[in-house]
Amino acid sequence: MTAPLNDRLLSGFAAAFGGAPALVIRAPGRVNLIGEHTDYNDGFAMPMAIGQETRVAFRPAAGPLNVAALDFAEADSFDPAAPSRTGGWRDYVRGVVAQLVAAGITVPGGDLAIAGTIAKGTGLSSSASLEVAVARAMLEVTGQSWDAVRVALLAQRAECDFVGVRCGNLDQIASAATTSGHALLIDCRTLALRQIAMPDDVAVMIVQSGVVRGLVDGEYNRRREECERAARILGVGALRDADEPLLESARSSFDDLAFLRARHVITENRRTLDAAQALATGDLVRVGALMRESHASQHEDFGITVPFTHALAELMSEAIGPEGGARQTGGGFGGAVVGLMRKDRLAAVREAVLENYRTPAGARPEICEELPAAGAGLAT
Ligand code: GLA
Repeated sequence: MTAPLNDRLLSGFAAAFGGAPALVIRAPGRVNLIGEHTDYNDGFAMPMAIGQETRVAFRPAAGPLNVAALDFAEADSFDPAAPSRTGGWRDYVRGVVAQLVAAGITVPGGDLAIAGTIAKGTGLSSSASLEVAVARAMLEVTGQSWDAVRVALLAQRAECDFVGVRCGNLDQIASAATTSGHALLIDCRTLALRQIAMPDDVAVMIVQSGVVRGLVDGEYNRRREECERAARILGVGALRDADEPLLESARSSFDDLAFLRARHVITENRRTLDAAQALATGDLVRVGALMRESHASQHEDFGITVPFTHALAELMSEAIGPEGGARQTGGGFGGAVVGLMRKDRLAAVREAVLENYRTPAGARPEICEELPAAGAGLAT
């Protein structure tokens, strides 16, 4: 993975299929700044796209759809009119094609090469970026001009219906609809989007805890069920419709677990809206405080942190100081910690992390510094 991504993609395409693609589409990974496990509760989230991305190179032709996953040195070939499930990474591609077919689009066959820079299992949405890239490529060659949210929802359905993970819409919207230089406040129910300009002197650091998420789908789906149960107890359609006074007034109807799960989601929605407002006005002290509270809520109420991510988030928050903060990001049970800070804190925070944090394997963690990238589109 040393050659720049596009060179690797084009030489891999030529080696697998001969010649050159008709187009290359890029779709970024994302880091969620705040608003965790709120998307499937019809709530609010505020991710930004990152520089790590997936690219697909496509050349349409009659016949089967031939796919080369360059990073895994694996391949697939199927009839694009009737994709069936087969497992693993192939289902992300097949699932998107199946959804396009269900939407009445005749997906061509041809040659599709995939390469990317997002490590799997690190909480930065490699799968969503693959889905969005494939969807955009197929729409492009069939002359369809769907808006970004429609592309994202199709990609999300591919993951839910075909791959079988009951994810919300955060990851796919973040990959498809973000704008360079901006975080994105998503209303996951109405799908209203608000681009929030990132102040010029602010950057984001992502540190990999080294705990690769395990059994995450089971835990993820369980959290969803707990939230749905809490909404039923409160008599609302989704936890988005509840506030803290309603929750308190219904305390005696709750078992402890459902109460804590609901409290996380309800308070996280409020924090996300507040954080968007604070970021828009450049109030880093407030954004940082909200990120710390978000982390504590994931730790105490939602039960999705692990000791390594918890220690790392606390360490980073302390090193960042009052202007900014850190929290575990993504689905949980490991993965990455995100820190938001003034650019002039980056070096000191990096040093503190390298000095004081070791992964479960005893290694220094992977650290990257990110500015908000653009959402999916034709690669130039
Ligand atoms: C995963 C899911 C998203 C979202 C986050 C938690 O990334 O794919 O839909 O639920 O977890 O915020």
